[in-house]
Amino acid sequence: MSHDAAPQPATARRSNALSGVARVPGDKSISHRSFMFGGLASGETRITGLLEGEDVLRTGAAMKAMGAHIEKHGGEWIIRGTGNGALLQPEAPLDFGNAGTGSRLTMGLVGTYDMETTFVGDASLSGRPMGRVLDPLRQMGVQVLKSAAGDRMPLTLRGPRQATPIAYRVPMASAQVKSAVLLAGLNTPGITTVVEPVMTRDHTEKMLKGFGANIHVETDERGVRHIFIDGQGKLTGQVIAVPGDPSSAAFPLVAALVVPGSDITIENVLMNPTRTGLLLTLQEMGGNIEVLNPRNEGGEDVADLRVRASDLKGVAVPPERAPSMIDEYPVLAVAACFAEGETLMQGLEELRVKESDRLAAVARGLEANGVDCTEGEAALAVRGRPGGKGLGGGTVATHLDHRIAMSFLIMGLAAEKPVTVDDANMIATSFPEFMGLMAGLGALIE
Ligand code: S3P
Repeated sequence: MSHDAAPQPATARRSNALSGVARVPGDKSISHRSFMFGGLASGETRITGLLEGEDVLRTGAAMKAMGAHIEKHGGEWIIRGTGNGALLQPEAPLDFGNAGTGSRLTMGLVGTYDMETTFVGDASLSGRPMGRVLDPLRQMGVQVLKSAAGDRMPLTLRGPRQATPIAYRVPMASAQVKSAVLLAGLNTPGITTVVEPVMTRDHTEKMLKGFGANIHVETDERGVRHIFIDGQGKLTGQVIAVPGDPSSAAFPLVAALVVPGSDITIENVLMNPTRTGLLLTLQEMGGNIEVLNPRNEGGEDVADLRVRASDLKGVAVPPERAPSMIDEYPVLAVAACFAEGETLMQGLEELRVKESDRLAAVARGLEANGVDCTEGEAALAVRGRPGGKGLGGGTVATHLDHRIAMSFLIMGLAAEKPVTVDDANMIATSFPEFMGLMAGLGALIE
């Protein structure tokens, strides 16, 4: 398992123009949910394009441990679910490795069951706050029998005989918290309501509807979303084609913008509007990104992206855009290193509780590579150097964070001097094909 493996440093060097056509692996958020909902639904779910990263495979293992049948035949995953309300108590702790989404959503999914479930994870996941999910679950009648200080993993949940439906206003912009409450509502009689003042990725709502859950969304005059789920209904297996992950596409995309002369196409990228903040921001910075063949597949917008090297300009990114690009700030900060002028990113408080404190990790990594930047409580300003002159030469501490590792390897492709990351192992959690895909486009990473 990668979190036990010895650190594997990697170095990226200034590369010649990137070119070619690439496909990034399936969307991580949709892949986790495909395993979960397929494992829960009655009948068969068939999934193609699944992200086979460690995080998602651990969600699959957890669902198996609770009674789902999951097998791979050729390129297709075939699941026979337990039926809603019929998950079994796992015999051993569920190990989620590095995965916040897998662990938090599963806490919601099984917390309301009249059984005991223990959640464990790696050092990064064990440091992340779980109270944001445990608080609403407690209101529904779930007991937290054991936890590490501050509601952290390892932790053990015990569900009530019958959970109580609640109306819960999500206090931070978090799709994981929203989803955990909705999933808890699946095994709760009556209507569970989630109030979402700031819209976050809506894969849970869309996919649950596809599986036949009785769920609907009303948006009030202030733009606040009210999501209602009527519990204990039947879910039915589905056929799912997972589109490419925009959060993974972000890495070759930024690489092509900053490496002079590049021209690449990334096919089949998810274009759900709750996920396209980075694209918009890079276009505002002057990035030459063409959205080709926009289409709808399986209820999601997808497109191919043609990206050409561009002279970027710094921008102020509106804070309200943060939920639609929350995982992309590290690589946006790298794009900003090569832009003319200052890029200001605000509303970043959630970055402090990702796989690492991403705001600090990015700022330290930039400083180690000669970038002029300022870290605020929830903001980051980066003053770029077009051409990357004087940049690079540093080693970045990745703190078990895949996106920190990939972002700084992208930086090394355009900086004057090489950039080293202290550990590339965690890349396998979300983008196992990263090294091969980047090499195929002409990137020098070893
Ligand atoms: C995710 C939600 C986001 C995101 C994560 C995936 C999801 O987390 O950072 O990578 O699939 O619901 P938060 O809900 O903590 O913002």
